[in-house]
Amino acid sequence: MLTVVGMGPAGVQLMTPQAVQAVAKADALVGATRHLAQFPHFSGERCPLGANIDEVLAWIAARPTQNVVVLASGDPLFYGIGTRLIAHFGRDNVQVIPGVSAVQYLCARAGVDMNEMWLTSSHGREVNFDAIARHLKVAMVTDKRCGPKHIAAELVARGKGHRWMVIGENLAQDNERIHWLPVSAVENDYEMNTVVILDER
Ligand SMILES: C[S@@+](CC[C@H](N)C(=O)[O-])C[C@H]1O[C@@H](n2cnc3c(N)ncnc32)[C@H](O)[C@@H]1O
Repeated sequence: MLTVVGMGPAGVQLMTPQAVQAVAKADALVGATRHLAQFPHFSGERCPLGANIDEVLAWIAARPTQNVVVLASGDPLFYGIGTRLIAHFGRDNVQVIPGVSAVQYLCARAGVDMNEMWLTSSHGREVNFDAIARHLKVAMVTDKRCGPKHIAAELVARGKGHRWMVIGENLAQDNERIHWLPVSAVENDYEMNTVVILDER
């Protein structure tokens, strides 16, 4: 059985009981080093997941009779590893246990509802800035290449500097910080972050 579980934005405290139970029953755990480190007492096999995705898929395929659990950041099917696992192994062969996405967590902390929100990502992909400018309420996960400063510059270039950007940095961690800024004032670099862009505060 192959299961992918959502870890939420930080770790065990935001996992659902069902996700925690799946890990407890696992023979093998796959995940980023920071996620594997959340289970120091796990005694089964461990497989670190990074840019080595093809290798990891082969590692999982070689263990068809084991309970393999893949630890996914946030929710597995929101720009996460769950999509790749389903594409590779098939929908019927992957059990998905949802998690709290970084976007959901940021909205909760900032008191912003998710109604009518357009969800996207700049994480390792091309961004459609015209589409972001067209929507009145956008949330996106980011990466180092295209973070708040870059997104803000593209919005200013499209006449949207008056909008608000909520930047959730290191969410659910000890050094979590949430910044509310007009888009035209976003000039700094931020650590791991998720953003919400609003037409009105
Ligand atoms: C590959 S995406 C995964 C998104 C994830 N599946 C989710 O549902 O949140 C990775 C991006 O999620 C965001 N992210 C994940 N954990 C975060 C955290 N603790 N604080 C801020 N952003 C986070 C960052 O933008 C990071 O680059």
